[in-house]
Amino acid sequence: METTPKHRPSSKDQRRGFFITFEGIEGSGKSSQCQRLAANLQARGYRVLETREPGGTPFAEHIRGLLLNTGRNSSWESLTPEGEAFLVLACRSQHVAHVIAPALKKGAVVLCDRFFDSTLAYQGYGRGLDLTALQNLNQFATQGLTPDLTFLFDLPVDQGLARRRRALHQNRLDHEKKKFHERVRKGFMALTKDHPHRIIIIDAGDTIGTIAEQVAKRVQPFLSRMKKLRPSKKPG
Ligand code: TMP
Repeated sequence: METTPKHRPSSKDQRRGFFITFEGIEGSGKSSQCQRLAANLQARGYRVLETREPGGTPFAEHIRGLLLNTGRNSSWESLTPEGEAFLVLACRSQHVAHVIAPALKKGAVVLCDRFFDSTLAYQGYGRGLDLTALQNLNQFATQGLTPDLTFLFDLPVDQGLARRRRALHQNRLDHEKKKFHERVRKGFMALTKDHPHRIIIIDAGDTIGTIAEQVAKRVQPFLSRMKKLRPSKKPG
């Protein structure tokens, strides 16, 4: 069995791609926006990798199932906050080493639905784990890889949870109390204050189309230096 990744994450100045993450509370619409931006950039000739956390590799997707599945065996013990943190971090290590870093090295625009800010917001602010410890563990799991740009899709918790109640599949964290989700939202907001140059807040209450336009507009200036796979499609 292979235990050593083929690629170690390269440092920011060595990589040629661009790394964008999508964050927000449950029901914020970030996954749809990630898909829309991927389609937009692909149509315009960029090399794009769209991925998600927890998950993004076969191993990490397997752990995702254990983490988020509501139908776990009822005889299992409850998952501790620390156990939850280590599982998301194990997924992240696999994902960065085997998927994200190699794609960035090839010059792709990598779009990731959640990344390390979610660990700080959910396990840190939500579960109350020590933020400095989580920051160090994030650094350990990612080998220092940081997104170039992060979109935070913000909306009131009541609205997000109402959207999730209408969704076909709900995960274990959807069933947490409203207060937990309030702490997560507050956590994301605190992160934007700590990283104002990296994190862009988007009002997730707007229509899907309006938000997609805003996101594409904010990304464009960063991509002018990126090589395309083929010329852009002409409009119309
Ligand atoms: P989602 O794909 O629908 O956003 O669901 C992923 C869930 O995983 C969501 O409830 C947030 C949770 N999560 C964490 O708690 N910590 C993390 O670090 C990540 C990436 C996700």
